[in-house]
Amino acid sequence: MKFFIDTANLEQIREAHKLGVLDGVTTNPSLMAKENIRGEEACRRHYIDICRIVEGDVSAEVIATDFEGMVREGEELAALDPHIVVKIPCTAEGIRAVTYFSAKGIRTNCTLVFSVGQALLAAKAGATYVSPFVGRLDDISEDGVALVAHIVRVYRTYGFRTQVLAASIRHTHHIIQCMDAGADVVTCPLNAIMGLLKHPLTDSGLKQFLADHARVNQG
Ligand code: E4P
Repeated sequence: MKFFIDTANLEQIREAHKLGVLDGVTTNPSLMAKENIRGEEACRRHYIDICRIVEGDVSAEVIATDFEGMVREGEELAALDPHIVVKIPCTAEGIRAVTYFSAKGIRTNCTLVFSVGQALLAAKAGATYVSPFVGRLDDISEDGVALVAHIVRVYRTYGFRTQVLAASIRHTHHIIQCMDAGADVVTCPLNAIMGLLKHPLTDSGLKQFLADHARVNQG
């Protein structure tokens, strides 16, 4: 299972990268805006900065919503670095663009996926990744993890090679649930990644080990 960080914040990407377990990064226009990255040129420079930190895939999202615009933007993004994956919304124009990029060997992440039907079209179009949004479904009382499991089941039944990238992860338990559901990738905020390390027995056990060591080695 691959582990991506879901942020455009360079410090957080560096911190996760230092753990040695990071396989990639996902961004979206909201995450870029949060870092106050303005204008096309600044966005491109920021994606290049991210690619210099991680060795894995970096999803960069198109802003255009029409096929021609997505193709133009996506080609520019893909040319920035071999690790860039063009992130495209799961609309009719988006599926056309995924098909186009797939034929050209440019990798894509089909995003804003909320149903198994959307995931089916993304896979048939040849998307490298499909991104079901777990937290946003949970927010409206649907079951985001169940959608991940459903997509994994359908893809395995038909042998689709598109990787299921569980997105919109809100907390540590989502990560574990998506692993259980068979997701190929989970993209998470830094606090959810760090949350995986937290256990009171680890803290109390370490405290006891250090206290015992100090007692015997003092004086
Ligand atoms: C990543 O690919 C998605 O854009 C992101 O996970 C969305 O997360 P959110 O629902 O927390 O905004």
